Amino acid sequence: MTESKEVKIFENAESVASAFAFEFYQMVTSTRQRFDIALSGGKTPKLLFEILARDFNKKIPWERIHFWWGDERCVPPTSEESNYRMTKEFLFSKIPIDESQVHRIKGELLPEEACQDYIRQIQSNLNERNDWPIFDLIILGMGSDGHTASIFPHEMKLLKSDEICAVATHPETGQERITLTGQVLNNANRVFFLITGKPKAKRVSEIMNNLKKAKKLPAYHIEPEKGEIAFFLDQKAASKIS
Ligand code: 6PG
Repeated sequence: MTESKEVKIFENAESVASAFAFEFYQMVTSTRQRFDIALSGGKTPKLLFEILARDFNKKIPWERIHFWWGDERCVPPTSEESNYRMTKEFLFSKIPIDESQVHRIKGELLPEEACQDYIRQIQSNLNERNDWPIFDLIILGMGSDGHTASIFPHEMKLLKSDEICAVATHPETGQERITLTGQVLNNANRVFFLITGKPKAKRVSEIMNNLKKAKKLPAYHIEPEKGEIAFFLDQKAASKIS
C-alpha cells in the first residue's frame, strides 16, 4: 500500500456516517451519469444507510444509481445473515428505486451458481478497464482480523484471483460467501473504507503505520491502481494510529 492514503477521522460512528453520506451525495450529483456502487455488508453500514434514507432521501438522484455488493453470505435474501436483507431494511425500503437497479448476489443458489450468476450480471452491466469491470465506488468494511469484503487472511489468493468473484469461506463459522476479488476491488474508480469501533483499531494502526505484519491483512492490499482510496474512521478505530 502506498503512503498516500486519504484518512478522515471523525468523533464517533454517527459523524463518520454523516460525512460519508455527504461525500456520496456530492459524488453522485457531480455527474449526470449512471452510478454503480458496491456496498459493504455487516453492521457498520446500517448507520450510513439510515442517514442516507433520512437526510438525503430527496437530494440524491436515486434513479441513476445501481446497487451491487462487495460480498454476500450464501443464505436466502430473507435470512438475518443476508447483506441484501439488511440493505433493504435500512435503505431500499425507504428510497424510491426500482428493483432493476438492485443487482443481488443470489445467496439462495448453490455457491458456485451464485458466483457465476453475479459474474454474468457484472459483465452485462459494467464497463471494463484492463479487462476488469469498473465500479464507480466500492464501500468496504474491515473485520477485526483485517478481512475485507469476504477476502479473509486464510484466503489471500483471492486478492490475485483471475475471476471477478469467488466462493470464500468464513474462517471461524465455515459459512460460504460470494466475494468480489482483489483485482476487481483495485479496479474501482473509488474505494471508501468505512471502519468504526475499538475492535478494528489494532488492524487499522498496522495498516496506517505500514507495519510488516499488515502485509498478512487483505485490507492492506486494497489500493485502486487508477482510482482513489479513502478511509472514513471514527476516533475509536483510529485510536492506535501513531
Ligand atoms: C460482511 C462484510 C464484511 C464486513 C466486515 C466488517 O459481509 O460481513 O462485507 O467484510 O464489512 O466483516 O463487519 P462489521 O461492519 O459488522 O464490523
